[in-house]
Amino acid sequence: MGYGDWVHDFVLKGDICYSATRNSLHISEHSFLVCEEGKSAGVFPQVPAAYGHLPQIDYTGKLIIPGLVDLHLHAPQFAFRSLGMDLELLDWLEIHAFPEEAKYRDTVYGLRAYTALVEDLKRGPNTRICLFATVHVPTTLLLMDLLEKSGLVCLVGKVNMDRNSPNALREADAETSAALTREWLDRCGAYKNCRPILTPRFIPSCTDTLMHYLSDLQKQYGLPLQSHLSENQREIAWVRELCPESSCYGDAYTRFGLFGGDVPTIMAHCVWPDATEIALLRSRGVYVAHCPQSNTNLSSGMAPIRRFLDAGISVGLGSDVAGGVHTSIFRAMADAIQVSKLRRFAGGHHEAPLTLEEAFYLGTGGGGAFFGKVGSFAPGYEFDALVIDDANTAPPFALTLRDRLERTVYLSDDRNIIAKYVRGVAISNF
Ligand code: GUN
Ligand code: FE
Repeated sequence: MGYGDWVHDFVLKGDICYSATRNSLHISEHSFLVCEEGKSAGVFPQVPAAYGHLPQIDYTGKLIIPGLVDLHLHAPQFAFRSLGMDLELLDWLEIHAFPEEAKYRDTVYGLRAYTALVEDLKRGPNTRICLFATVHVPTTLLLMDLLEKSGLVCLVGKVNMDRNSPNALREADAETSAALTREWLDRCGAYKNCRPILTPRFIPSCTDTLMHYLSDLQKQYGLPLQSHLSENQREIAWVRELCPESSCYGDAYTRFGLFGGDVPTIMAHCVWPDATEIALLRSRGVYVAHCPQSNTNLSSGMAPIRRFLDAGISVGLGSDVAGGVHTSIFRAMADAIQVSKLRRFAGGHHEAPLTLEEAFYLGTGGGGAFFGKVGSFAPGYEFDALVIDDANTAPPFALTLRDRLERTVYLSDDRNIIAKYVRGVAISNF
């Protein structure tokens, strides 16, 4: 079934804004955005004759922008977001994240917790999300069922971990972890919006034997991959001990063929890459999921995003719930700008801070590129759109459309979202 069988073509009228380039906006007030077979046909000052017959939805005075993209979220951590924020990564994993994730062995618990998450995601501004679930196959499938019904487009990973974690969570051995992953993959066939992504948690959680099995599964199923990289200094020192033969943390994945190249790969955090790792991220075409709020909450550090952009590395934004507290990628945009301003003077980096235009790009087209032609209204892009009623935030003086976008980003208020479309289909609970 093609999109044309079930997506109605239509036109949205309103104040339309999307990234023209990585650091500039395409801004069109009182304009028309055409959706044709689930894709943008472009933004026009008047409806072109060829689309004159299509139904028009009148959002005059409302802001219309592309849906936002979250490249990194831990679904089972949503339940304990904002708790335990005085710890650093490895202690926080041990004390909060691992014990909570162990509870997802229980599908009743999983259903309650994941239902709350998916309700939040439906209300929020993100239309594409990459999620870690847990090691458990039944609750991972349950999460995928809920996300599939939500209409959001997601990549979901059953997590692999067979070492350095509590008995209640760790998989018995590499063979068991690989067999469970295969079982999960074989049960993902029916999903359309929700696809699997291979998810070794991070190097300290996965034995070499497991990584070899995952490489085989990656090839057999042609899967993308997500994991963590160079987030915290203690973590990096630990990886150096575990993998003395690797030239850098990223190289520890590369040795198993699980770091970009032919494998579409997202690495979350990348706060402390050295020059070798930056060159590897670039040459392997790996996407960096920048998670500024998590990197602040867990005292991980300030990622060198300006250096990544200058090096031509693909960067998107991640909430990293529950290292991050907020699911909204508007909030991640504001956090990314703010952290870049602090970084400018810390450690004598003197890098130019991120602009609104750049942060907006990272949270739309930057991360969207991992999903294909996503995160823009240029013709041919998949039609993911948000409609925002910002009248309640209007001051007693006139704002430009760029001003309104800036305020929307910084306020990051889900209540102002009045409609949301994913691949041309309206999400239901607005
Ligand atoms: N590294 C390995 N696991 C995790 C996790 O759950 N959260 C974060 N922030 N980093 C990790
Ligand atoms: Fe994470």
